[in-house]
Amino acid sequence: SSPLVFVARRLPEPVMARLRERYRLTDEPSDEPPGRERLIAGLSEADAAICTLTERIDDDALRAGCRLKIIANYAVGFNNIDLDAAKRRRIIVTNTPDVLTDATADVTWALLLAVARRVTEGHALVQQRSWSGWAPTQLLGADVTGRTLGIIGMGRIGRAVAERAAGFRMPVLYTAHQEVVPAVPGTWQRASFEQVLAQSDFVSLHVPLTDETRHLIDARALSLMRRSAFLINSSRGPVVDEAALAHSLKQGRIAGAGLDVYEREPAIHHDLLGLPNVVTLPHLGSATWRTRVRMGEICLENIDAVVNDRPAPNQVT
Ligand code: GLV
Ligand code: GLV
Repeated sequence: SSPLVFVARRLPEPVMARLRERYRLTDEPSDEPPGRERLIAGLSEADAAICTLTERIDDDALRAGCRLKIIANYAVGFNNIDLDAAKRRRIIVTNTPDVLTDATADVTWALLLAVARRVTEGHALVQQRSWSGWAPTQLLGADVTGRTLGIIGMGRIGRAVAERAAGFRMPVLYTAHQEVVPAVPGTWQRASFEQVLAQSDFVSLHVPLTDETRHLIDARALSLMRRSAFLINSSRGPVVDEAALAHSLKQGRIAGAGLDVYEREPAIHHDLLGLPNVVTLPHLGSATWRTRVRMGEICLENIDAVVNDRPAPNQVT
């Protein structure tokens, strides 16, 4: 009979249809997070699993899984999975790179433009019928074109964000282990972490969450930023010390923030609520229909490979 797959959350219908064509499912996933019990039961009986960033796959979750060959993480980030625990059990872990690069870069720009040009404040003004007409000094924001964009972490998504800066004639400063050659005309310059913070008008975070990047943006890092600068985070919440960020914003130490991710999702630091210069999205980086279908296809390709004893194309180490 066909392999048994545990699917943690309901995925877009074309993905569910393809899954059902090829595999049996342990049970019917829903839109809600699986809960610890369903997660552990699913992992213990399945040959393959599709998990998402809301599932913490630690040693304990894998303890009962004896048949499990692969966890296909429906995300590019895989900080939700204890890789050592998986490796000890010879479980292959895969992610979904590339297919969500553009969608995530687009959302990063949505946040950047929204916070600089006060899009959410303007929207609220109009919707609340409070707008009394054009005025020379109403909702004046910050310039975007020509200002300096700082990229912390010049991987696939960082580069895609930097490429989009060309149309805004923005010089790009970035941190990276190696120099990166611009794929589009533009001035890209590698710099130290401190230089990027101190010299950028927009600082955008694109590092994975690891022990090294947890609270990378802390009170000290925020204090290096310009008072007129904006912080954009579409990577992982814990890269930023959220309490320190809330404090900086309340004190006017930086100009604003555009956030797609939070330290303890779905909770958000209470001081970040109600600040006019903070734009908050509910972790929508990869949330386009096409991207979410393609992420599912990548998970399926990896599962197909592993259950047929072929190497997984997107194994992470
Ligand atoms: C989303 O946050 C992802 O890592 O894919
Ligand atoms: C603004 O609407 C302008 O025309 O300058």
